[in-house]
Amino acid sequence: QTLEMELETIEKGGYDHFMIKEIFEQPRSIADSMRGRLKAEDAHLHLGGLSNYMDKLAEAKRIVIVGCGTSWHAGLVAEYLFEELARINVEVEYASEFRYRNPVIEENDIVIAISQSGETADTLAAIELAKSKGAIIFGVCNVVGSSIARASHAGAYTHAGPEIGVASTKAFTAQVTVLTLIALATAKRKGTISEETYRQLLIELENIPSKVERVFENASKIKEIAFIFTYARNFIYLGRGLNFPVALEGALKLKEISYIHAEGYPAAEMKHGPIALIDEDMPVVFLATHDSSYEKIVSNIQEVKARKGRVIAIVTEGDTLIPTMVDFVIEVPKTHEILTPLLSVIPLQLLSYYIAVMRGRNVDQPRNLAKSVTVE
Ligand code: AGP
Repeated sequence: QTLEMELETIEKGGYDHFMIKEIFEQPRSIADSMRGRLKAEDAHLHLGGLSNYMDKLAEAKRIVIVGCGTSWHAGLVAEYLFEELARINVEVEYASEFRYRNPVIEENDIVIAISQSGETADTLAAIELAKSKGAIIFGVCNVVGSSIARASHAGAYTHAGPEIGVASTKAFTAQVTVLTLIALATAKRKGTISEETYRQLLIELENIPSKVERVFENASKIKEIAFIFTYARNFIYLGRGLNFPVALEGALKLKEISYIHAEGYPAAEMKHGPIALIDEDMPVVFLATHDSSYEKIVSNIQEVKARKGRVIAIVTEGDTLIPTMVDFVIEVPKTHEILTPLLSVIPLQLLSYYIAVMRGRNVDQPRNLAKSVTVE
């Protein structure tokens, strides 16, 4: 028993929990997920595991992405990426729903399965079904040699390293990174991206690890905000565009480890119902980085403030407007809009971690949850 405890302390590398260790590992895990695949100065991007299938990807009329939980959120980010960069129609499906419908899958359709563990029963069953209908399956898994990786025709590992905390953190950012690489390689092959944007994105991808590092400089501020909201009973997370899946991910992180009820929404959906929930007891986290939906988000913030909601905004460094409107701001460095989720998700991971710790929760092993869901 004591030996086991000591081993665990060593594995946590001086951190109190695996989750916080894994959050702080992200500059490295993101870099690892690009290692050997990307070299911006030579405009080099190559995914060995997919090289035989690049033509199929470029010719694809449709991509179906399947996953569960956080991996499904990474799929939603990928939907934007493939549509924006490679102009391919993408559908993102909960694996558990997909497998029990009678989905329309045609020969040579491409199905991307996203899974940290590579063992999620619903995701595995979804790809077996798609395979039986003639689809080509790509796995984006973290665990090497896992069932989903083995059941796929091809794929790209995320190389985030072992993720022990039940709440997925570094696996998510590695998934988004790898999916970005796949979308970029496809766009290049198809000719749907300009040389300039392509190069810019490769360079900016290499800058992401050090920018994540910069987000960590806000950790103590995030801890103070967490302290203020420790006993909140509900939370709403709002974002638009690429930040919409990030809002969902922030809400999932909070509910699974702190047991606070939280919902993520596209900010524009507020007026279709959830705005009725807003009062002075409702904390609202806005993903309000400086991108193409900035003006719209600003007016969504006004709507919430007019109803006395308490707003925490994730903004781009140097924003001078939003800080005058909201209760708390957390800055993230500027990046290319396409890569925003890799930075904007980090403060949300930290916020839920600190809130859960302050509530005395078992952050690494929350009640009722298992790290990989191998049963239905
Ligand atoms: C996220 O924090 C989760 N604990 C959970 O939603 C997870 O992402 C989901 O079960 C999928 O797991 P997988 O990536 O191993 O397939």
